[in-house]
Amino acid sequence: MQTPPLLAPAAGLIALGFLAGPAAAAASEPVTQDDPPNYAEDVKPILREWCFSCHRGSRAKNGLDLRSVKAILAGGSSGPAVVPGDHGSSLLWKLTGGGEEPHMPPDEDLPEDELAVLRAWIDAGARVDATDEGSGAVGVVEAAFVPPPSAGPAPIPEGLSLQPFWWSETMGPVTAMATSPGAPLVAIAAHRQVSLVRTPGAKPVGVLAFEEGQIHDLSFSASGAVLLAGGGRGADRGLAVGWDMNTGARLFEVGDEPDQVLAAHIHPDHGMVALGGPDRVARVHLTATGDLAFELTAHTDWITAARYSPDGVLLATGDRSGGLFVWEAHTGREFHALPPVGARVTSLAWRADSNVLAVGIEDGRVRLFRMEDGREQRAFQADSAVLALDLSREGLLLTAGRDARGRTHDQQGRRQAELGAVPGPASAVALSHDGRHALVGGFDGRVRIFELASGELRGTVRSNPITEEQRAVNAARAEVRTWMAEEERLAPLVEQQRASLSGTDATLAAARSTEEERRADAEARGVEVEARRAARDRARQAVRELEPEAQGRRTLEAERREALDGARARLAASREALDAALAAESEAEAKALGSNDADLVKARDLARTLARGAAAEARIAGEELAAAEIEALTASSRLAAWVALLEPRQKAAEDASTALASAEADLSASRAALQEATAAAEAARAARDAAAATLTALAGDLDAASTRLAQAQEALPAAEVAWEEQQRSLGERGRVRPSGGTSVGAASPAAEAGASTGG
Ligand code: HEC
Repeated sequence: MQTPPLLAPAAGLIALGFLAGPAAAAASEPVTQDDPPNYAEDVKPILREWCFSCHRGSRAKNGLDLRSVKAILAGGSSGPAVVPGDHGSSLLWKLTGGGEEPHMPPDEDLPEDELAVLRAWIDAGARVDATDEGSGAVGVVEAAFVPPPSAGPAPIPEGLSLQPFWWSETMGPVTAMATSPGAPLVAIAAHRQVSLVRTPGAKPVGVLAFEEGQIHDLSFSASGAVLLAGGGRGADRGLAVGWDMNTGARLFEVGDEPDQVLAAHIHPDHGMVALGGPDRVARVHLTATGDLAFELTAHTDWITAARYSPDGVLLATGDRSGGLFVWEAHTGREFHALPPVGARVTSLAWRADSNVLAVGIEDGRVRLFRMEDGREQRAFQADSAVLALDLSREGLLLTAGRDARGRTHDQQGRRQAELGAVPGPASAVALSHDGRHALVGGFDGRVRIFELASGELRGTVRSNPITEEQRAVNAARAEVRTWMAEEERLAPLVEQQRASLSGTDATLAAARSTEEERRADAEARGVEVEARRAARDRARQAVRELEPEAQGRRTLEAERREALDGARARLAASREALDAALAAESEAEAKALGSNDADLVKARDLARTLARGAAAEARIAGEELAAAEIEALTASSRLAAWVALLEPRQKAAEDASTALASAEADLSASRAALQEATAAAEAARAARDAAAATLTALAGDLDAASTRLAQAQEALPAAEVAWEEQQRSLGERGRVRPSGGTSVGAASPAAEAGASTGG
């Protein structure tokens, strides 16, 4: 094929353009006396300012990328740019400070102090960073690998037809598979088509036609914007086809090989495609025009693998008898002829920093070569025959092959995980963009998706996509199954819920009747308290009625007692007076006896009169005392009589108070019990309401499920008839007639052309 008419204009390709890698932001600190300069802190800022514009990534002049020590040591077309420890032999120095031509940077001179930093850095061993011991004296050591940041999200085409272009009952092996570097998307090769599926759920995204034959190599471009398939028909024609992953449309077809293409890869900037096959010549074509850029002719056997380095500087190719070459991507000049690996190179993968190439070999080994000097860094047995290999951005290797299971290995070749077995040898592998899933494609035509963390199988995808009619039948059957299961799940739940509702009903009734009982009890106790209170009031009244009279009698009794005391005192006084009068009389008597003294006689007669008077007074006081005693006695006895009346009433009043207090205590206990019962009844009511609501909801779900089941059962026969009809009409080698739906892929002229000449 000459320049294909369908080719996207160059502008379209530029629009997909390769974005230069993120510029690492290294702080530029002054060189300290103690520490010799290192690349990260001292040299990179200088090179970034003066050199990166021409010496970075795919645009590097003379293939010299100055963005890392490794790249500098790998050098450009004149070999390593720096000889650690010897600035005089270092090309980088010769052209910048050494006065040799071509002077770098062209037409400008680096300031003296910056030149001094470059020189000191080279002489101190070209250290990567402050912790680096210097690479000057170093033999074969593994350069530290820091995974670069991810390229960012990649597109997933939308609205593609899911209708395959070919269909057959049987499935061939998964001949090729690729995952997008920035999206949950996997492309799986099938007979004359590519099936796009989302990971990890295996949801179909679309089918792309490859009418040109069998696909042997699939890959996404570094940005994920282009999907490339290499393939064709044996001893007839080989080519590579690129699709735009934003739209699913074909972008270009390149190559016109006399035999099918076995290996194909697209440069990270989308500008060129390298391909090869049984013709033994690897050819690089420009995607914009389809023109052949150059041929790589060193291989002596079928070319079986080809991969550009992620930085776009190098291209690696491998062949059926173990020949292995690394080329300058932009010039086609040989960069390394790696030592032959002795058996078929089945797969190639680059480490994300482009410094290490991993080679999968049919003898079961994986060999890692470093680009710095083309030497083997490591080799290890990964399988009895490695048929496929992938390398994650983080540096995890995934291999599979004859041993019928995927295995992961770290950069040192240590086995990390062994995935579940697949039936028969594995023909393709890929790691998902986020590194969480490993996809293993087998000779049985199925791709199995394993979760790396657990090693467990998460899903299986057919490489051979099914037709929309068949999908409709499957979907209709799944629908029937789903709703049947849903009905089966819900029916017993509804029954259970009914039972539990009647349980809650009973609980509620019991709680209500307890509440009523308690209420009645509380009421009765209230009545009792009222009665007791009335009784107590009556008893108090009875006491109060007697109280004034009792008070009067008490007072009177006290008065009488006082009077009695007064009478006693008076009697005592008059007795004393009597005694004195009697004494005076007897004294006067004695004096007057025998004497005629008239005075003495007078005095005796007076004393006699006084004594008689005192005796009379004493008699009167004695009588008064007797009277007072009688009155006091009377008052006492009258009081006692009243107290005898009052005391029982007081006792009765006290008893009534006590009885009231206990009735009141009973009442408040009963009220508390009522409150409890009320709360319990409320809770029971809420529980019953909730159960009723659940039942309503479940019953609603069940109804809905039954309706959906009926609908699904009704829809199924039509889908089945359509699928049967399609199967009858799939006569001509599995070609599927477009089912009328919109189909981006089928709109491709190539697919149409294939359809008209396919018979
Ligand atoms: C304006 C673009 C430009 C800038 C800036 C530039 N170079 Fe160059 N450089 C070139 C070109 C063009 C060549 C190829 C010259 C030739 O082969 O004649 C080259 C070649 C080289 C080479 C030889 C590579 C090889 O293997 O052949 C070295 C080393 C080099 N440059 C170092 C530097 C350094 C260091 C700086 C910054 C201080 C720098 N260049 C800045 C354009 C540039």
